[in-house]
Amino acid sequence: MSAPPATETLPAGPLVVGRAAEGPAPRLSLVVPTWNEAATFPDFIRETSAVLDRVLPGQYEMIVVDDDSTDGTWRTALALAARFPALRVVRRIDEHGLATAVVRGWQLGGADVLGVIDADLQHPPEVCASLWGEIVAGADLAVASRHVPGGGVSDWSLRRRILSRAAQVLGLVLLPGVLARVSDPMSGFFFVRRRAIEGVPLRPEGYKILVEVLGRGRVRWIAEVPYVFRERAHGASKATARVYLDYVRHLVRLRRDTLLQSRFVRFALVGLSGVVVDMSLLFLLSDPRTLGWGLTRSKTIAAEAAIVNNFLWNDRWTFADLVPDERSWHAARRRFLKFNAICLGGLVLNVLLLNVMFNLLHMNRYVANAIAIGAVTAWNYLLNRALAWRSADVG
Ligand code: GDD
Ligand code: MN
Repeated sequence: MSAPPATETLPAGPLVVGRAAEGPAPRLSLVVPTWNEAATFPDFIRETSAVLDRVLPGQYEMIVVDDDSTDGTWRTALALAARFPALRVVRRIDEHGLATAVVRGWQLGGADVLGVIDADLQHPPEVCASLWGEIVAGADLAVASRHVPGGGVSDWSLRRRILSRAAQVLGLVLLPGVLARVSDPMSGFFFVRRRAIEGVPLRPEGYKILVEVLGRGRVRWIAEVPYVFRERAHGASKATARVYLDYVRHLVRLRRDTLLQSRFVRFALVGLSGVVVDMSLLFLLSDPRTLGWGLTRSKTIAAEAAIVNNFLWNDRWTFADLVPDERSWHAARRRFLKFNAICLGGLVLNVLLLNVMFNLLHMNRYVANAIAIGAVTAWNYLLNRALAWRSADVG
């Protein structure tokens, strides 16, 4: 007699999704985070399997990650595993939280496409078919959205609508480049290609796993499909005030961690270091208390030194990933000359602005200098990104 099915154990350690399993593997690993969903689970597994048996017969797995529910959801799921061969059940004892449960499930999954769906049937299982269709069409990420035509929520209180929108607005303020990429960044229902998050240390907090994938993943092509968020058949949402606090903490951490990922932020920081070089040299050369040289001569030397400083930092940090195979002295020299030419244009503009503000508007020389540098930064960034660090193979 075969041994009764047992729960599987999860990999420990950092939340990093590794390579897909070698050999025959499912095409979709759909993770179902559960916390006290025993009442709904039988209907959930029946409805969802019916859809996936039609769309991906024998080519998917469903991984339940249960945080040791007090209502024995993991036991209910385990008992059903014999009838649903695609079902895998994990009982998590020492960790808790929706988003981390999802990542742990993805770590266990073997497929090239990873998905997440709630177990309370508020996410209609039939939408899995349209999500899969978008992935097959080539999307890196397919998101079920309440905020595209045909999407919506069934019967939400005004309070819940305001809370959900407020959360979205807060995210758009803190991480515009991340949350604005989709219409429903709060969605807990999506499919993503493994390659978009493979090897990326994920650090979600609370509920919002999609925000983490968008913020840290290598997601280029995003598709959205509409769905209507349904009312629960049993029980209530587990989203407490703590979940909203977790969300704010998650946003702040993601903002901090990804700040330096933003190329413009890096360029601006390098620019700031150039300002320090520029200002100190301007003082050493032109201030009456030091050498007292003429302003334009001093400024030209100071600016050129800042350009050299900025080039070295930008070439080794800000834009290094754009030209990984062009590290030869000759290639670097070519980039430096382009960089210098572009910055020279900016320098002329800078000196012009400085003189207008200092001589005509009688502004303080250092304030005028800071404004002039600020005005030129955008010019330098855009042109250098497009010309100096344009990879040779782009032609
Ligand atoms: N393993 C685990 N651990 N699962 C959890 C936990 C947890 O701590 N908390 C909740 N879950 C499971 C629930 O059992 C359910 O299957 C799913 O995660 C969603 O939980 P709900 O509490 O029902 O969330 P919601 O309905 O308020 O919000 C859902 O929909 C929103 C709109 O798409 C979530 O998916 C949100 O992330 C999403 O923003
Ligand atoms: Mn729910």
